[in-house]
Amino acid sequence: MKLKIAVLAGDGIGPEIMEQGVAVTTAVAEKFGHEVTYREALCGAHAIDEVGDPFPEETFQACMEADAVLFASVGDPKFDNDPTAKVRPEQGLLAMRKKLGLYANIRPVETFDCLIHKSPLKDELVRGADFICIRELTGGMYFGEKKEGTDVAYDTNLYSRPEVERILRIAYQYARRRRKHLTVVDKANVLASSRLWRKVAQEMMEEYPDVQTDFMYVDNAAMRMIQDPRFFDVMVTENTFGDILTDEGSCITGSMGLLPSASTGEHTPVFEPIHGSWPQGKGLNIANPLAQILSVAMLYEYFGLKSEGALIREAVNASLDHNIRTPEIQVEGGAKYGTREVGAWIVDYIRRK
Ligand code: IPM
Ligand code: MN
Repeated sequence: MKLKIAVLAGDGIGPEIMEQGVAVTTAVAEKFGHEVTYREALCGAHAIDEVGDPFPEETFQACMEADAVLFASVGDPKFDNDPTAKVRPEQGLLAMRKKLGLYANIRPVETFDCLIHKSPLKDELVRGADFICIRELTGGMYFGEKKEGTDVAYDTNLYSRPEVERILRIAYQYARRRRKHLTVVDKANVLASSRLWRKVAQEMMEEYPDVQTDFMYVDNAAMRMIQDPRFFDVMVTENTFGDILTDEGSCITGSMGLLPSASTGEHTPVFEPIHGSWPQGKGLNIANPLAQILSVAMLYEYFGLKSEGALIREAVNASLDHNIRTPEIQVEGGAKYGTREVGAWIVDYIRRK
């Protein structure tokens, strides 16, 4: 297969983990005889500094012309403490989502047995938890009408029926391929937008009789995720709730640095780690490249290349089993491997297989 990949490394630890992501992509392509070409493009704080725009037109074009985007992270502390900043790196990410029509954000929440001790939850509660959060990504408060006055400000949580329908369809497709259990998370006891979600879901559930659909208020879902995370199989929710719940989800697994995600929709799909740009770790060769590498697995799998994805997952598991780990997940007394060393070990594993 021929694949054109736009590479958006962004800020902070982004370029370091991206280097490993690209190395793994190439190793897999060589192994399976795929022809992959890369095109690097600017985004985030980096792009603001260089061209004054966190998602420049040229980057948009590079994404549109690619088959897939491999994205690392954006964000820089110099913008965080300045509420007057006119442009922010995060706007680049939001512009990318909107312009590429990436309405479905797929965030798997899975545990790695060897990292369970890192979870803030008791082992017996979290072991085996494995669900997917499908987060609506181009609607709701993130993109609704806003006003930012001196004394009054608001954001509008707007959803239309087609927006709700298309994301629910994706959620049902995932549920069908998994344990056939879909939880629709909303706040229908308070919010009009949530009542639309619930109405549409109640109509659609008739079309999917093989899937068990249940409805849960978001506050209850937040609680259930820490009391009984194994309850969930596929969860679907609006943009803001999904943002919050997926941070919770990633942290209960104890492996936040390991979780990848995919954003899909109308145009080129984007594959990225769910963690941020961790500016404190920048340039120190200590960032965990595994979420980026697993994002590459999701990329290959998106194109139906299952063995390619499986080999990457196998290599990642092998690196963990051999304790080839970055400092934050290393076992006591274990050697501390850097970003580059973990990446090189995984590349080597893939080549030798
Ligand atoms: C995420 C991030 C973004 C979001 C930020 C960086 C704009 O938190 O991808 O979850 O809120 O969607
Ligand atoms: Mn978030």
